[in-house]
Formats: sequence, C-alpha cells, structure tokens
Amino acid sequence: MRTHYCTDLSEANVGEDVVLVGWANSYRDHGGIIFIDLRDKTGLIQLTCDPEDSKESHEVANSVRDEYVLIAKGKVRARGEGLTNPRLKTGAIEIVVNELVIENKSKTLPFVIGDKKVGEETTLKYRYLELRDPDLYNVFKMRSKAAIAARNILDQNGFLEVETPILTKSTPEGARDYLVPSRVHNGEFYALPQSPQLFKQLLMVGGFDRYFQIAKCFRDEDLRADRQPEFTQIDVEMSFCNQEDVMKIAEDLLVAMFGACGVEVKPPFNRITYNDAMELYGSDKPDMRYDLAMTDVLDIFSRCDNEIFTNIAKDPKRNRIKALRVPGADLVFSKREMKGFEDYVRKFGAHGLGYFQMKEDGLKGPLVKFFSEEDIALLIERTQLEVGDVVFFGAGEKKTVWDYMGRFRNFIAEHEKMNLVDEDKFEFVWVVDFPMFEVEDGRVKALHHPFTMPKDTNKEDVEEIESIAYDIVLNGVELGGGSIRIHKEEVQEEVFKLLGIEEEEAQEKFGFLLDALKFGAPPHGGFALGFDRLIMLLTKKSSIRDVIAFPKTQKASCVLTQAPSAVDNQQLRDLHIRLREQNK
Ligand code: AMO
Repeated sequence: MRTHYCTDLSEANVGEDVVLVGWANSYRDHGGIIFIDLRDKTGLIQLTCDPEDSKESHEVANSVRDEYVLIAKGKVRARGEGLTNPRLKTGAIEIVVNELVIENKSKTLPFVIGDKKVGEETTLKYRYLELRDPDLYNVFKMRSKAAIAARNILDQNGFLEVETPILTKSTPEGARDYLVPSRVHNGEFYALPQSPQLFKQLLMVGGFDRYFQIAKCFRDEDLRADRQPEFTQIDVEMSFCNQEDVMKIAEDLLVAMFGACGVEVKPPFNRITYNDAMELYGSDKPDMRYDLAMTDVLDIFSRCDNEIFTNIAKDPKRNRIKALRVPGADLVFSKREMKGFEDYVRKFGAHGLGYFQMKEDGLKGPLVKFFSEEDIALLIERTQLEVGDVVFFGAGEKKTVWDYMGRFRNFIAEHEKMNLVDEDKFEFVWVVDFPMFEVEDGRVKALHHPFTMPKDTNKEDVEEIESIAYDIVLNGVELGGGSIRIHKEEVQEEVFKLLGIEEEEAQEKFGFLLDALKFGAPPHGGFALGFDRLIMLLTKKSSIRDVIAFPKTQKASCVLTQAPSAVDNQQLRDLHIRLREQNK
C-alpha cells in the first residue's frame, strides 16, 4: 500500500508523490487547515490537509480521531521558515494531502501511546497498544538483529541449531518447575525445561560436536526486575574443548550481537576469580563500571579495644571485617545520612555499619578511640584514605558481610550525591573458579549444577572444591554462565555422593544422562546467555519486561490473556485432576 515509511522521507524527497499508511498519532485544526501526525513503526510525519488543496480529503480529515488507521496520498513539501519541528526526525517537511482514506476507526485509547507514567496493569492489558510506540519497536528491532547476529556467528563457527523438547522431565537449574499434567498417563506430569542443559549434553554424546539454540526456558521463581518465569537463553554446547575455547566463543558471540546493535565491545574481557570478586566487591556479579574495592582490615581490628570486633576477628576463616573507602563522601553526606546508611545494610543482615571520616586534622568517628595510634596510621595507609573520604566497615560472618557490603557498594555508587555509574559504559567481566558446592543449613548444594566438572575433589572442606565454571557479568548483572561438564560416570557418581544424592534418586532423576555417560561421552562444555537480560542492558531498559513482547507481571500473570486461569471441570477430569479447593 505504501511507497515509504514515515521517517524514510526527508527534504531530499520534496516534490515527490507518496503514499503513507499508519495511525493518527494526533490531529490539530488550525483555522481551517488540519494537521495530522501520522505514525508508523518508524516514527511520525505531519500530514497537512488544506481545503484549498483537496476539499474531499479535508472533509475526511475533519472526522479523524486519535489512532484511526489512515491511508494518505500526497506530495512532500518543505515546511516554511520558522515552521520546522526540531523534535521530529521529519520535522523539516510535511505531506500535502490530496487523498485521505480512513481505513479503520479506533475507540478512545485507555492511555496515550508512549506515556511512561501509566501503570503496568493497564499497559500490559493493552500491550498491543503500548507496542505501537516506535521507541518500543526499536527495542524489538535490536532484539531481532541480535538474534540474527547470534545465529550467523554460531553458524559460521560450525554450530548446529537444534530444538530440544519443551514437554520433558525436571532439569537441574534449581528453581521450581512448571508442571504439565499428562492426559494419557494418569497422575503423571511433564516438566517444562528450566534450560536445555541435559539435552545439549546428550547432543554431545550424540556426536553433534557444536550445538546452539535460542531456547525458551521456564522457571517458577520469585520475580525481580531482571527475571521472568518464561525467558530466552542463547544456549551453546561444544565437545573436545576447554574453558578457554568456550569463553572465546562466548566473547565472539557477544561482540557480534552488540555489534549488530551498533555497540562496539572489545574482547578479551577482564577476568576475576569468584573469591576475589567476593573479597573485593562483595558479589559474584560485580559492577565494574566503578572501582570502590573493599580492603581487609580484620588484622587491625583484632588489636582494637572493642570486644565485638576482637571476638569477630578471632575466627578469620568464618568471619570478615571489611573496609569500603568512599572517596569524597565526607564532603557530600551529612552525619545523619551516614547513620541512615546503617538502616540500609541492616535489611541485609548487618548489625551496624561503622565509619571513619578523614578530616584535615586526622581520622574522626566514634570508633577511633578503640585503636592505637599506629593502627589508625595503618588503617589510613591500608585504605588509602585522603581528606574528605569516609571509610565504612562491615564486620561479621563472611557471607553476610560480603553480601551487605557488596549491596552497599552499589547503593553508594548509584546514590545521586555520588553518581559513580557511567551509564554509557558496557563493562564485561568473567567471574571464574567458582566453588563447586555451597553449604546451606548444613546441606551441600551445587553452586551451578551437579554436572559441572570439579577441579580437585581431594579437599577436606567441600566448600573449598573449585569447579570449571564461569559466569559472564555485564554492569553488575549476571548475563550468562556455563561450565565444563563431567563426562565420566565415576566423577558424576562421586559428585552425587558429595551432594548427598542417593544412587536410586540419581537414577530416577537423571538416569538417562548417567547411562549416556557410559557410552563414550566426549569431553564437553558450554554456556547460556540470558537473551532478555542482554537486550535489557543493550537498550538501557530498567526492566526485563520492556524487552519481552508479551511479558508476565511481577506476580507471574499475563493480564492480557488472563493467564493463568481456571479451567472447566471436564478438562480437569480428562487430566485426572481434582482440585482440593475450588477457586471462587
Ligand atoms: P543459568 O541458570 O545461569 O545457567 O542461566 C543462564 C542465564 O539465563 C538467564 N536467566 C534468566 N533470565 C530471565 N529470567 C529468569 N528467570 C532467568 N534465569 C536465568 C541469566 C542467566 O545467567 N544450563 C545453564 C547454562 C550452562 O551451564 O550452559 C543455565 O541455565 O542471564
């Protein structure tokens, strides 16, 4: 129908006859001449309907309302001097309409397209209207370009795109499964995959050598700004490879996807061990756009005259005393604000947050009196304090201290008075050498998943066993992760034993994989990138919902289709299901 998209036109087209189609974004009647901003996926252009040019089209224009679907024929004209609109890409021109057709009418919209202040319950209910915003269209354009770039680069590197089942058995990523009842098998359920993890390993046993998939994954977990119950991974697996080979492919993939969206990123990305990440930044997904590294001051506090600290310092294996120097903080934060920071860290298990201020005449603060002069000097030297700085302290059990000090580091960097985050930066970092296990409430758990290759299992403390696992972190968000897998049956059995998974349970859950390992499984490894998160960061959106065409709300429901919803009794009967309590 059309000759051009709205924003294809510029002053270079002046004098041309064109046909444009789209929606009436707005209309204005200026003393007999009607101006309509026509919108398509690319943006806006002004239609000018003057009765002098075409009486009929002016009449039609008279009945145009917001969001009517229009077909406009006319000539491109340069706007007169002083009449240009610098806010529009096409602001220097207009279309003098000689034929206007209303192709369809529209009810009054529940919100103005592009209005960012409307609540999610409304915008998601009418998501198809929200999607008319060219800004949102651009997000999906990037998403599509990145997906195509991923396919191309992986294809060029010999990876085969293979689809794995959606109706399957529980997969081992550690979240709750979405279950699908079977009609044919009374009382039995499929699980939707949390990832294609096991199938991609089986494809390696099948000799495919290099696999990828843009895969839908399903996890029934608490939602946050960067989590959806249904999300997409770019999932990759390869055989006869080591960690370096896998990381190189992941970097090439990221360079290609970012490049397709006009962002240049330069590999190789920096690396940090898990242990350093926790000790320095209190997080396994440190935001490296700013420095703010922590220092260990447990030895200095062990000599102070305050029992709280000396007791904590007695167990340096279990506990930490960490210092976070914040340059210039004394010049911008009031005492009250600094006390207020304590309330922030308390939410994450801190008992308090001590601090010292570096003044012209030395170190000040309520805790100073507990330290000898030498130790004060040592503290200043260790944390490299300069006049105007504040150093904050966290003391206690190491995981708790890492966690709240890590969060506090981000909080301070983002604080409007500090503003340390360069929003234009894309700062990648690989976090490597993850522990294989973590102990929670006395139970040993796999930190990634139980198919990850451990480095050396000959350690007294299971928490000291490292794994060949790596995460790629971008601007403080975990973008993806992967590992070299176990390909030998005996190693897999040993790991299950360490995890306290009985042979019977292992057989029941993952028997098919254990069997496959018996038939000449090649060494293999891979990774998965969270595709939605990647697009969220690339397009600088604050929520993952902005980059998913039809996302779920924070409560995992789809307000557009009203899913999940009740089903009729016959359907339940077919599925051999009886509800314990009928939802009213
Ligand atoms: P993992 O569980 O780390 O690894 O997932 C990989 C990446 O997927 C993204 N992601 C999510 N994105 C949106 N919503 C969610 N609920 C969600 N959960 C995860 C994250 C994450 O880094 N099978 C392994 C990969 C491997 O070892 O090859 C896996 O799934 O960006």
